[in-house]
Amino acid sequence: MLRRMTALAAVVLCAGKGTRMKSEKAKVLHPILGLPLCAYPLKRALDLGASPVVPVVGHQAAEVEKSIRAHFPDAPLRFALQKEQRGTADAVKSAQGAMTGHSGRVLILYGDVPLLRRETLEALLAAHDRAGGVLAMVSTTLEDPTGYGRVIREGGKVARIVEHKDCTPAQRQVRECNAGIYSVDADFLWTALADIQPVNAQGEYYLTDLVEMAAKRGPVGTVDVDATETAGVNDRVELAARARVLQQRINEQHMRAGVTLMDPASTFIEEGVRIGPDTELGPQVTLAAGTVVGRDVTIGQGCVLTASQVADGTTLKPYSVLEDAVVGGRCIIGPFARLRPGTELAEDVHLGNFVETKKARIGRGSKANHLAYLGDANIGSGCNVGAGTITCNYDGVNKHLTELGDGVFIGSDSQLVAPVKVGDGAYVGAGTTVTKNVPPGSLAVSRAPQVVKEGWVAAKKARQSKSAKPGGETPPTAKTG
Ligand code: UD1
Ligand code: MG
Repeated sequence: MLRRMTALAAVVLCAGKGTRMKSEKAKVLHPILGLPLCAYPLKRALDLGASPVVPVVGHQAAEVEKSIRAHFPDAPLRFALQKEQRGTADAVKSAQGAMTGHSGRVLILYGDVPLLRRETLEALLAAHDRAGGVLAMVSTTLEDPTGYGRVIREGGKVARIVEHKDCTPAQRQVRECNAGIYSVDADFLWTALADIQPVNAQGEYYLTDLVEMAAKRGPVGTVDVDATETAGVNDRVELAARARVLQQRINEQHMRAGVTLMDPASTFIEEGVRIGPDTELGPQVTLAAGTVVGRDVTIGQGCVLTASQVADGTTLKPYSVLEDAVVGGRCIIGPFARLRPGTELAEDVHLGNFVETKKARIGRGSKANHLAYLGDANIGSGCNVGAGTITCNYDGVNKHLTELGDGVFIGSDSQLVAPVKVGDGAYVGAGTTVTKNVPPGSLAVSRAPQVVKEGWVAAKKARQSKSAKPGGETPPTAKTG
């Protein structure tokens, strides 16, 4: 195909303040399903192989640039600064320097239009190829086109765009609107932009003036798409509305691919999450970016997974929170378990309620079913870690490792003061504070021997009642209960 051979670059307009957001934060940084608004159009451009992709920043330029770089660390980005908002043509023009050396096509996208699909951009590039001119654009047909630029056709062909404020009454009747998304030949773009003047109702440099110039050079390609896809975000009501559509779109993709969502309306799955078939998600589950879930996995109500991997057949009981964790197959986790970064579980591991792990590698079939903290720990297979076990991994300055071999039994309410090792098959008695290594096959107990005083309670009561007699010298000073 022609366009495969035509180099593609992109400009994404991210300079706007977004006054109606009523926010200290730039509009394009407001999160929508876990990502900043502008990450969506940027991602679409990058997915099509555009290089460079030039975000045009202005309002809060430094913050916007920092956030974009953090989300796309390895992407071919070059930033351009638009110091003053003088119109969409001026915004694109400010990207020219960053495009030096590119002589193919330039995609122009808005940073506040998150629902635009990759398929639409592919259709736009194909329309550009088909028409054979210097520009193609996305249009949308609206019931109420108030505020939009109108697509004015002559003899069926696009002749120009007229902004709402510049329209004649007859032009205002046109319902075919400009979505503001274009594919333009680079050579034409830079020469034409130099000729645009701010002679219009708003005194702005209109990018839309390009369309009339392009129409004089050749046919203008168009792709007409549903308005939900090209809708921007101006305030927080629109932000929530776009988020809802995005959420529904992502959730439907997963359901069609064989994933059960008990309550799609309360399920939040960020873009890029992968889920295997026959997996079931309960209500209020959040799967954040970078998460990969296998098949036949059950994820209970209220679980939150971030950048985690869960293998086939595992059950996450309700309200478990996983962050940068790797969970093997057929594990049973939670309810209320917290798996922090660096947790790596082999298969068939059980972690129960109120168990917290961090940098913990736990071998096949090991269990910690109640109330434990396992941090900086290597635990072998087939171990049983009793209720209330704590790895004391931090000495106030450094973190230290706890190592358990295979088949180790740790009695309840034990502390493992790291660095410390417990060898294969060893036992630690309940309530033990382990400070020295325990050799394989041995028992470690650090409890004080138990003392039993028979009849002690009755004797105590007798002593108390004697001292509390009327006229007695010392009344009881403390009550117990
Ligand atoms: C623009 C189009 C209009 C189209 C509509 C679709 C022009 C002149 N008009 O109008 O035909 O129907 O989009 O939504 O292009 N921006 C900058 N720098 C500027 C000006 C704008 O970065 O100097 C950014 C804004 O932050 C925004 C986008 O460009 O993200 C669009 O600008 P805006 O002024 O909202 O254009 P519209 O008036 O909506
Ligand atoms: Mg405007």
